[in-house]
Amino acid sequence: MTWSLECTVCRTRYPGLEVRYRCDCGETLDVVHDLEVLRGRLTAEYFDRRLGSYLPEDRSGVWRFRELVLPVAAGEISTRGEGNTPVYASTKVAEYVGAGSVLLKHEGENPTGSFKDRGMTVGITVARKLGIDTVACASTGNTSASMAAYASLAGMRAVVFIPEGKISRGKLAQALAYGARTLQIEGDFDAAMSLVEEVCRRESIYLLNSINPFRIEGQKAIGFELLQDLRWDAPDWIVIPGGNLGNSSAIFKGLDEFMKLGVLPRLPRLAVIQAEGANPLYTAFREGRDLEPVASARTLATAIRIGNPVSWRKSLRGIRSTGGVVEQVSDQEILDAKAIVDRAGVGAEPASCASVAGARKLVASKVIGADDKICCILTGHVLKDPDLTVAYHLGEIDGIRSTYANAPEKCSADLQAVLAALRRP
Ligand code: F0G
Repeated sequence: MTWSLECTVCRTRYPGLEVRYRCDCGETLDVVHDLEVLRGRLTAEYFDRRLGSYLPEDRSGVWRFRELVLPVAAGEISTRGEGNTPVYASTKVAEYVGAGSVLLKHEGENPTGSFKDRGMTVGITVARKLGIDTVACASTGNTSASMAAYASLAGMRAVVFIPEGKISRGKLAQALAYGARTLQIEGDFDAAMSLVEEVCRRESIYLLNSINPFRIEGQKAIGFELLQDLRWDAPDWIVIPGGNLGNSSAIFKGLDEFMKLGVLPRLPRLAVIQAEGANPLYTAFREGRDLEPVASARTLATAIRIGNPVSWRKSLRGIRSTGGVVEQVSDQEILDAKAIVDRAGVGAEPASCASVAGARKLVASKVIGADDKICCILTGHVLKDPDLTVAYHLGEIDGIRSTYANAPEKCSADLQAVLAALRRP
């Protein structure tokens, strides 16, 4: 076996594939790879050679790095060709951030419109190997969309727990459309999360939230692929929105493994950005203590409306060991940054743009240098939350100034009226 599960805190090891999400001590688990076995074999050229391949396991932006994800046979993989997401260099966004260059790695351009597909291809592949027939997750909408799609593809039943009225319509539409059994919980994400863990334990349903360590193994590939996109030259900063904190944990874990293998010359610093109303990691980081949950998390960026993040310990570990930071941004800052990202022709969902809003704040406070090479991760697609986008441009969001509004104009179905409208400044 070239990997085992290991407790994040007490380091107890659990070798072999089993249904397990936590250590017996209650803490989270990491998949630990035997890097000694892989050293010398996994090089930049080794991964680059796979870019010219037609094999699905080479074309997937996750399984291309499979030795560091999970060594499984090609025929066992459930893939939708996830990853391979573009990196945009936008002058408009860089100007807004106040930096010389800002790259946007657009994870919203995955098959179901979010970075979750990278973790899900691995989670569902493991579920299949374990002979599971039903999978479940609690979600603010993207995990559920992704799980519903991948489960259907693999012939499994999917049960999603979503906080009623607190996820965007686009995401709810995906869960329903892909055929998931959808339970709208009368509570917030944190309530749904604790319920689903208990239900999975009792009903032998396989849990596919990011507490599942195999999800993290897939999401790591964001960092791997970014490095490959940049011809193996690391950025100075990677800026990521933080909710349940699986993604920041994953990106750090992957880059750390790349460093240890000598594929990466230096670690980028991580900046995790939270919404002001859902900021438990920000407070824990600033005060140098363990995380204390935020009782009723609030933000219009519903994807990151989470008060009690599962992976906070792993996330903090990564931030600290890269010399990184945690910042918070207001909903106003998130929605203005989104308007800029959208207008640049790139477009992303609100939570994604917390990264751009955070980068701007960190450049202004000189934590990030204006000449640093910055890469913001855009986590979700612009069409995930059309209601909020339209409300912003119509100036209909309570307490939010629509700084960069682009409202539609009414016009009668008449040539003269249309021409008059076009001539107006
Ligand atoms: N951005 C988007 C678009 C998300 O959907 C999420 C999380 C995050 C950022 C935060 O990532 O949780 O790894 O820190 N969405 C989860 C969900 C919680 O259920 O879809 P994280």
